[in-house]
Parts: sequence; C-alpha cells; structure tokens
Amino acid sequence: MMRILSIIIAGLLISCGSRKKVDREVFDAVNESMEIKKVNEVDIINLAIKWGNEISAEAQQELMGKLNKSINEKGVAGAVEFCNVEALPSLNEVSKRHKVVVRRVSHDFRNPADQPNEEEEMLLEAYEYNEENGVKNSANVQEIGNGEILLYTKAIKIPGEMCLNCHGDPGVDIGEETLEKLDALYPEDKAKGHKVGELRGMWSIAIPKKEVVKKL
Ligand code: HEC
Repeated sequence: MMRILSIIIAGLLISCGSRKKVDREVFDAVNESMEIKKVNEVDIINLAIKWGNEISAEAQQELMGKLNKSINEKGVAGAVEFCNVEALPSLNEVSKRHKVVVRRVSHDFRNPADQPNEEEEMLLEAYEYNEENGVKNSANVQEIGNGEILLYTKAIKIPGEMCLNCHGDPGVDIGEETLEKLDALYPEDKAKGHKVGELRGMWSIAIPKKEVVKKL
C-alpha cells in the first residue's frame, strides 16, 4: 500500500514539476483519441450501410424466390395466401439469422403490421418527399434510441409489371379472383393502384450497434 502511495505521490510531483508539458500531452492525446473515434464512427456507419444493403437484398431474394414459386404452383390468387401467411415469418427468419429486425413499412400498407413506427415515420416521409420532388433516394443509417441501435432504411420501388398483379389497378392489373382474396384478407388494404417505378414503401432494419462494431 505504502509503495503504491509513494508511486502516486512521485507521479504527482513529476507532473507538477512540468505542468505545461503534461497539459500539452494530455491535450494532444485527447485530440488524437477524438480523431480516432471520429474515424470509427464513419467506419461504423459505412459498415452498417453495407450490411443493411446485403440483408435487404437477401430478404428481397428470399421473398421473391418464394413468391415466384408460389405463383407458378398456385397462380396469382393462390399466392396472395402465401404472402399473407409467409411474408412476415420469412422476414423474421432473416432477422434471426443476422440478429437484427427486418421490416418493410409503408403508408399504403396492405398488412396493418407494416405501418411505420415513430422512428420510421420521419424517414419514410423524407423518402416520399424526395420521390415527389425528383430527388434520388439513397440508403440511410440513423442512430435511434440512446444510440445503441442503427436504423438502416432504403426505398422500395415497384420494379416491374409482376408486382401489379397484386398492387396495381383492380380490374385492369388485378384479376377478379385475386381481388376477392385480397378484400377478404385485408379489409383495410391501401396497397392497390400502384404503377411501375412508384415508391411502395421502405426497408427498415434495426441493427444493434454492437453487432456492427464486432465486425469491424
Ligand atoms: C401474389 C400477390 C402479390 C404480388 C405479386 C406482390 N405482392 Fe406485395 N404484398 C402482397 C400481400 C398479400 C402483402 C401483405 C403481406 C402480409 O400480410 O404480411 C404484400 C405486402 C407487400 C409489402 C409490405 C407492405 C404492405 O403493404 O404491407 C411490400 C413492400 C410489397 N408487398 C411490395 C411488393 C413488390 C415490390 C412486389 C413485386 C416485386 C410485390 N409486392 C408483389 C401480395 C403481393
């Protein structure tokens, strides 16, 4: 104990003796560590964007693969039931695989579970604003909560005619049998009347920051 004390006292004496120099060193060290931290924050955000891009592509591929298979086997009307039963569980599987929460959210929702929450709301509005004003939408990462979660978002557009089978105009794009199924399963459905190229909603992937840091 005495020994530790004397070392501390010696340390204090030395630092008192050359106060200016130590202050300068402390100053430099703090600055340096802030610079390092700044770089790390950028690295974290960049990795979260990359990871979000990969996970959203994987989720999209999984949904599309299953959707195409279902249309081939049961036709469009039959595939509506597949989407109704399988879309959310498929996204949950992807979520579990990566320890994140993957959602598709929309103001023109078909499933009421796909409405944006408070944090998603502002981002979705920004995507809609950009879309209306001809500004290109790009993927975004935002810190939410107390900074422990990185929310990745990315616009979802209607990429082709295929989607209109269930999201286009009733009677024109959506067949009668499909419409009956949609009306029965989704009485509040807002996801009809779309055109190719329109904004349909956005991906929302909540990524724990620590999972990103682990990968750095
Ligand atoms: C066979 C019919 C069908 C086709 C084809 C289809 N969808 Fe859907 N879509 C649905 C159904 C049904 C839901 C609701 C799923 C649920 O209940 O979880 C849905 C939900 C969605 C959602 C989630 C938001 C919401 O409204 O609930 C998005 C985004 C979406 N579809 C985009 C697309 C895109 C893009 C395409 C084309 C690549 C497409 N869909 C093709 C039937 C279809």
